[in-house]
Amino acid sequence: MKIVFATNNAHKLSEVKAVLGDDFELVTLKEVGITEDIPETGSTLDENASIKARYVYDRTGLDCFADDTGLEVEALNGAPGVRSARYATDGHDFAANNRKLLHELEGKENRRARFRTVISLIRGGEEVQVEGIVNGHIALSESGSEGFGYDPLFVPEGYDRCFAEMSADEKNAISHRGRAVAALVQVLKS
Ligand code: IMP
Repeated sequence: MKIVFATNNAHKLSEVKAVLGDDFELVTLKEVGITEDIPETGSTLDENASIKARYVYDRTGLDCFADDTGLEVEALNGAPGVRSARYATDGHDFAANNRKLLHELEGKENRRARFRTVISLIRGGEEVQVEGIVNGHIALSESGSEGFGYDPLFVPEGYDRCFAEMSADEKNAISHRGRAVAALVQVLKS
């Protein structure tokens, strides 16, 4: 089954491919001729996932899905949340975002955080949303070189290593995106 995944992030694409398996052929934005950045003007993850999926559906008429992810830190009242990509700067500057997060948490005892992914699926014109959550905490310093974004700082519950110290398979099995995609597969197969 062919389905458009509204992303240009190669890391995400390979993570989602691994969970979806061979029953689905993932088509990228580039492959359907969408080269511009899709505006993320929503104020919640749910809104942004929906905006992105609708953008693709309106232009292609193809079955598609889009995800939006945020890191929600308890002591920061849920920040960076929907602004996770643009926390420190306007661009996707992962290193600057991680530095800012460490700075904001300096001296704070509560370092609990969670990643939340919302996926909007549009199939036959009908929209369905699913989500995936992983709880954890923010480490005192960065470690590891795998993954992307906040992976060098996020330690999932029950582990003493952060996502950036895990293989892609290990991360996918427990991650917010892995869980959201597993829920997506349930919907796609139903
Ligand atoms: P997006 O909505 O999926 O593009 O995610 C927004 C931002 O959240 C990204 O730019 C990253 O900073 C962060 N992020 C999303 N997923 C992950 C992940 O799996 N690990 C680490 N950071 C992530």
